[in-house]
Amino acid sequence: MPTPLRIAVLASGRGSNLAALIAARDAGTLPVEFVLVASDKASAGALRLAEAAGIPTLALNPKSYPDRPSFDRELFARVAASGADLLVLAGFMRVIDGAVVAKWEGRAINIHPSLLPKYPGLHTHRRCLEAGDAEHGASVHYVTAELDGGPVVAQARIPVGAGATEASLAERLLAEEHRLLPAVVGAIACGRLRWNGEALFDGQPVTTPLTVAQLS
Ligand code: GRF
Repeated sequence: MPTPLRIAVLASGRGSNLAALIAARDAGTLPVEFVLVASDKASAGALRLAEAAGIPTLALNPKSYPDRPSFDRELFARVAASGADLLVLAGFMRVIDGAVVAKWEGRAINIHPSLLPKYPGLHTHRRCLEAGDAEHGASVHYVTAELDGGPVVAQARIPVGAGATEASLAERLLAEEHRLLPAVVGAIACGRLRWNGEALFDGQPVTTPLTVAQLS
């Protein structure tokens, strides 16, 4: 058996994307080892999920550090010490210092609930509705210093539909996120998706975001 990909996950909230990754691992469809789940919020549901799954956890309080770079340096030093090959940001609600994140180029991915480059940042479902978009979606991208701005490798799309609300859109999209993120991590784990200064899938540059069907 090849060595499973070692992944660390950063999450600030409930952790349903983390749960989807754990479920895929448990189902035998995702060859990864979780080496750390870390959060900037001690109360994050993601930490409880990780504890229940026997994954090492870490909660660091940003208020205990003099500034953002100090917090980020400590957090990322702990991630590095975990031995992670890949860092997955799954609902991590902080902007990360550019110099800190630069060291993880090609080794960190983020899931964002919009069809990037549309709607980086917060309130993506509301902004999609306010714009009258016919389609919404989620993106997985490699992390760079620019917030939600790194190269997009995969997307899932849903129709907005009549009568959609912020909550209903978020709920429907979340179900897609739970397929998209394990599919991307799985493609990295099996070596089909890799980083060589740019994202390559089966050896070819990713010029159009991949779909779950293509990744599976
Ligand atoms: C997801 O919508 C993710 O795309 C966004 O934050 C949310 C996190 O949800 N970045 P969860 O904590 O994984 O349930």
